[in-house]
Amino acid sequence: MERLDKLLSRELNITRTQAKALIKRGEVTVNGAKAVSGDLKCSDGDEIICSGRVINRREHVYIMLNKPKGVVSATEDTGEKTVIDLLPDEMKRRGLFPAGRLDKDTTGFVLLTDDGEFAHSILSPSKHIDKTYIARLDKPFTEEVKADFEGGMTLGESELLEAELCEIDGDFTRARVVLRQGLYHQVKRMFKKHGITVLELRRIKMGNLPLDETLGEGESRYITEEELLLITA
Ligand code: URA
Repeated sequence: MERLDKLLSRELNITRTQAKALIKRGEVTVNGAKAVSGDLKCSDGDEIICSGRVINRREHVYIMLNKPKGVVSATEDTGEKTVIDLLPDEMKRRGLFPAGRLDKDTTGFVLLTDDGEFAHSILSPSKHIDKTYIARLDKPFTEEVKADFEGGMTLGESELLEAELCEIDGDFTRARVVLRQGLYHQVKRMFKKHGITVLELRRIKMGNLPLDETLGEGESRYITEEELLLITA
C-alpha cells in the first residue's frame, strides 16, 4: 500500500505539492472514483488515472543524486552520512543502493536504485557504459599521459580498458575523463601513475544521461523512463 500523492509524485516526476494539487482539481481517479485526498492508500491492483492517462507503476525506482563532498556511497549507517541519508523521506524505500560508488570526496552523479539487474548491467565492464568525470589536477597532463589513458593503460596488475582524456578550454590542469569501468579510485590512480594528483573530481554523466545541473548539492530527483534509456543508449 502506498499513498496516492507519493505514488503520483514518483510516476509523474512532480513534487508532492503538485500531486496534491492535481488531486484537489479532481484530475485523479482511483478505480473509477474521483480521489479527494493524497492520503488515500493505493494497492498494486488499483487503476489510477490522472488527467485521462493511466498511471503505470514501475516496479523499480531510479534516482539521480547530486552528491556533495563528505558523504559516503554506502547504504549502511557506518557512523558517517550516506547517500541514502540525503534522500527526502518520501523517496526512501527498502532495497535502494548506489549503482556505482563515488569516493567520499568526489561529487556529482550517483544513481540510486532498487533494481539489482539494471545496476549490474550498467556496471559491467562488458556493457561499456561510459562514466564521464571532470577532474582538477595539481599540474598539467601531457600528451604522453593522454596516450597512456587512451591506449588502455597498465595499472598495477590490471590492463585497463581504453579511456578518454581531454583538456578543458585549453587548460591541461582541468580534464574530462571518460571511463568504461569503475575500479577503486580509478581516476585518481590513473593520474597518480603519472605523478599527478587529482584535487577535485566530479562525475557529470552516466552513459548519455548528464547530471541535471539544476539539482543543488545533496538534491535528488527521479529519473524518467526516457532518461533511463539514455544511460544504456
Ligand atoms: N575514480 C576515482 O578515483 N574516484 C571516484 O570517486 C570515481 C572514479
